[in-house]
Amino acid sequence: MDNNLSLELRHISKTFPGVKALNDVSFSAQPGKVCGIVGVNGAGKSTLMNILGGIHQPDEGGEIIINGKKVVIADPKASTDLGIAFIQQEVQAFDTMNVYENVLAADLNKWRKKKGLGLDFKAMKKEAQIYLDTLDSRIDVDAPVYTLTVGDKQIIQIARALCQGGRILLFDEPTSSLSDHEVAMLFQVIHRLREQGYIIFYISHFLDEIFELCDNVVVLRDGQVVGQAEIGDINKEQLVEMMLGYQVEGRVHNREGALNDVIFKAEHISGEKLPRDFSFTLNKGEILGVWGLLGSGRSELFNTILGIDKMMDGRLYFKQDGELKEVTQKDLYKHVGYLTEGRHYDGLFLNMPICQNITSSNLNQFSAKGTGILNTAKEHVESRKLIEQVGVKTPDENVKVSKLSGGNQQKVIIAKWFLKDPEILFMDEPTKGVDVGAKNDIKELIFEKAEKGTSFVVISSELEEIMSLCDRIIVIYEGRLVGEVAKADFSKESLMKGIVSQEEKNAEKEI
Ligand SMILES: Nc1ncnc2c1ncn2[C@@H]1O[C@H](COP(=O)(O)OP(=O)(O)OP(=O)(O)O)[C@@H](O)[C@H]1O
Ligand SMILES: [Mg+2]
Repeated sequence: MDNNLSLELRHISKTFPGVKALNDVSFSAQPGKVCGIVGVNGAGKSTLMNILGGIHQPDEGGEIIINGKKVVIADPKASTDLGIAFIQQEVQAFDTMNVYENVLAADLNKWRKKKGLGLDFKAMKKEAQIYLDTLDSRIDVDAPVYTLTVGDKQIIQIARALCQGGRILLFDEPTSSLSDHEVAMLFQVIHRLREQGYIIFYISHFLDEIFELCDNVVVLRDGQVVGQAEIGDINKEQLVEMMLGYQVEGRVHNREGALNDVIFKAEHISGEKLPRDFSFTLNKGEILGVWGLLGSGRSELFNTILGIDKMMDGRLYFKQDGELKEVTQKDLYKHVGYLTEGRHYDGLFLNMPICQNITSSNLNQFSAKGTGILNTAKEHVESRKLIEQVGVKTPDENVKVSKLSGGNQQKVIIAKWFLKDPEILFMDEPTKGVDVGAKNDIKELIFEKAEKGTSFVVISSELEEIMSLCDRIIVIYEGRLVGEVAKADFSKESLMKGIVSQEEKNAEKEI
């Protein structure tokens, strides 16, 4: 590794139609330092990374200086050739290949034996091992990638980046699909890379991560650098204020809804894999949290209730005409909304405008009765209202969803379900990728709806969020209900209690 690695950005601007995503951004990064890039949704973080990754070109006048030389990053290949590696949020791995093939995937031809067509597997494994060793990883080079956890795939993605000669590493929200343990492993890897003198950019909405990992931060707001600091010189409140441009007031909600009016009941339900024999009730106007570790069957619980996974056993009840009646999944579906976790797979029509995404679950509302013809003018009016209400940052409702920043895409999904206004809304990680300010706004919107009688069932991996949002939390472990905690007893310990005791029982069984 050369020691004079350096990167400087001078006067970088980027204009998209109707949006100035970056406005005269200048700063420099040092080797052996992790530089955090923070800012609210749409502040310009990913755009900046995309410019370094050769995906977008900056406007006229901007300069990128690497190792003292002005460079043009015309395309992703030029970026790779300059030693820049982009580790994106959605893990990129070739599931049907082995670990070593994944690590060396950028140039498999290099490993062709001179005579004949075969690859030199032995040499490949040896080479791949070198990169895994650099990362201090114990992943088996021979393992098929589909057997690995998301966290391990993430590490392989980093190994591949290093193998391609990456010395400037860009991490854009890398931890949003990782478990706590995997996050800890990723941080170890990043620490190690820092010691080895890499330049590292780290984007995250989890400010605790920024404080734990970064040496300094650059704060973007509306495409401009509004602050830079050594991490030791600021605290969380100051950072949030820099990001938002105002102070957030921690509003306390003392909700005293009548939480004894059961609107929905699941009885002994089992799915194809998980859940197993799971029962719970939900009250009208209640915000019920579902807490569990990654892989505990939280999303599967929702999928089974809503018929996406097959329900093998159990009954569902829904209150109609003042009476709790057994319902089929199809009946239930008329009364519920489901905000799924994977927004890119099943939550959005990326190539369609925001407007049509917002109305997509609710087209009946927009057709003149019996005609089946859409009243598009009404669609536009209503979607503009929701864009305003939920705070989607966009010039107008005609912008394609694919052009929005990650957090703003999430807000479009929320807008869609708020428009449908179902009686029960199932939400799987509703604030994933959403900035601190917007998280607060979304929470407020949920409170408002709940006050008016909508019931919510919410999965969140963020302890602070689930405790501040919910009225009651049920705990799931290996697909089973292992605890229920009332608001007065919320604490990390009380939530973990069911899980820990279950783990102990499992350990006893093994002995
Ligand atoms: N390809 C594009 N075409 C048009 N506008 C774009 C494009 N990419 C980004 N934008 C706009 O540029 C602005 C900055 O977006 P960017 O993705 O950089 O935000 P971000 O800081 O990464 O936000 P998030 O935290 O939500 O990921 C947003 O207003 C976004 O809508
Ligand atoms: Mg982004």
